[in-house]
Amino acid sequence: MTALMKIQTFIQAYAQAISSILECDVTVVDNQLIRVAGTGNYAFEVGNTIAHAKFFHEILKTGKYGIITNAAEDPSCIGCEKRAYCKELADLAYPIFKDEIVVGVISIVAFEEGQRESLLKNRGKLEEFLKYMTMLLESKLYTAEARDRLEQQLQVVHDDKKGWSFVGKSQKMQEAIAIGCKVAKSGSTVFLRGESGTGKEIMAKMIHGLSQRRDKLMISINCAAIPENLVESELFGYEEGAFTGAKKKGAIGKFELADKSTIFLDEIGDMPLHVQTKLLRVLQENKLERIGGHKQIPIDIRVICATNKNIEQMVQEGTFREDLYYRLNIIPIELPPLRTRKEDIPPLVEHYIEYYNLKLSKHVQGVTGEVMQTLVNYNWPGNVRELKNIMEYLANIVESEEVQLSDLPDHIVLRSTKGYDAWSLDKIMDEYEKRVLSNLIKEDDSVEEKEKLAETLQISRATLYRKLKKHNLL
Ligand SMILES: Nc1ncnc2c1ncn2[C@@H]1O[C@H](COP(=O)(O)OP(=O)(O)O)[C@@H](O)[C@H]1O
Ligand SMILES: [Mg+2]
Repeated sequence: MTALMKIQTFIQAYAQAISSILECDVTVVDNQLIRVAGTGNYAFEVGNTIAHAKFFHEILKTGKYGIITNAAEDPSCIGCEKRAYCKELADLAYPIFKDEIVVGVISIVAFEEGQRESLLKNRGKLEEFLKYMTMLLESKLYTAEARDRLEQQLQVVHDDKKGWSFVGKSQKMQEAIAIGCKVAKSGSTVFLRGESGTGKEIMAKMIHGLSQRRDKLMISINCAAIPENLVESELFGYEEGAFTGAKKKGAIGKFELADKSTIFLDEIGDMPLHVQTKLLRVLQENKLERIGGHKQIPIDIRVICATNKNIEQMVQEGTFREDLYYRLNIIPIELPPLRTRKEDIPPLVEHYIEYYNLKLSKHVQGVTGEVMQTLVNYNWPGNVRELKNIMEYLANIVESEEVQLSDLPDHIVLRSTKGYDAWSLDKIMDEYEKRVLSNLIKEDDSVEEKEKLAETLQISRATLYRKLKKHNLL
């Protein structure tokens, strides 16, 4: 596919806009003489090879603009075998460049005498106009190329079936993913920020997976999960007899293990101060000393760290070393909360339906529009992790092909804060009533039991029946 064909939709829209301003028809062909865009008569010929190729061929060859002022007499028309069918009276054409190579031609066409006159009268201005148009198309071609390249990289992110795949079509996530892809190869320290469940860990895996170190295992360590007095030995290892309870032969630490690979320091905000000091030294010197040891062990490590804490505030309060903060905060990547990028919710829902269908051998087809709306409205305090868990729950319990509103857990439906905006109070009360009743009623409830229930709820039996009927619970 030629470069111009790749941005066909854009060019067609442009051609249409120019055509309506100039009141002439506009057409664009690529360097294989295939019509990329066309208005009026030519709108139906997009994708076809153009007929009277001689004029355009010349422009593609020379890279110089050309004009046919009068098709009846023009030499490039006279030799054309399609001359008998051609209704063009005049034609002003300009080459489209990319990297100084002609990649196509844009032209303004007159089919009527009035159009021809106006084209000739405004020839100078129109040339100028076309020149700017082609410059614009050229810059569009560059952007499209850059986007292509990025998409190819993103494809890797999705295709890599090492147990993770990254879904994110929102601008915010696209930006985060783009930075991640860009810095993956460099080996620089990355600092991932974001609430719990926003994808910090899978971003770390992605960066490692795209880096030159990907053949070695990424070593993860959760600084919050290790008892404070053990963090140091976990990270740096220790020599025989370094402290009471130490193993006879000493032990290798996570840093040594991660040599030539990546170390992921999760919850770095929970690292005790004395360990921070040692970490800083290791990062500055690229060497470490095991606890109780004297040998300097050289290490070559890529560090990715993550936290959901306000590290800047911790620096101010003195609970996080300022120098370490600067040493780590080289490439910050922010993963925004899910509630601020709601357009990611539908693709995530679909992704996880497929994921759990595969994993749990289910055949859920999708969710109803109402369910999707509710999921989008919900504010997801646990971010993607919470959404993933809900999808697993649904995959387990749903029996119909489509997930119904009644399948969703109460707290999602009723605490979907924005849901209160989208739903009237009546509708919320209704949904709530339905849920309460369906919890209280059993399918085989006898008349006596229903009577008892009505009594408990302090409503008449008739009211109870009416409500049960309304909610399809009879
Ligand atoms: N953009 C995403 N696309 C697909 N799954 C995601 C995405 N973000 C997070 N997840 C999933 O959500 C869960 C939590 O993500 P995780 O990376 O552990 O978050 P964090 O480290 O920020 O707490 C993981 O199972 C992860 O696979
Ligand atoms: Mg995490």
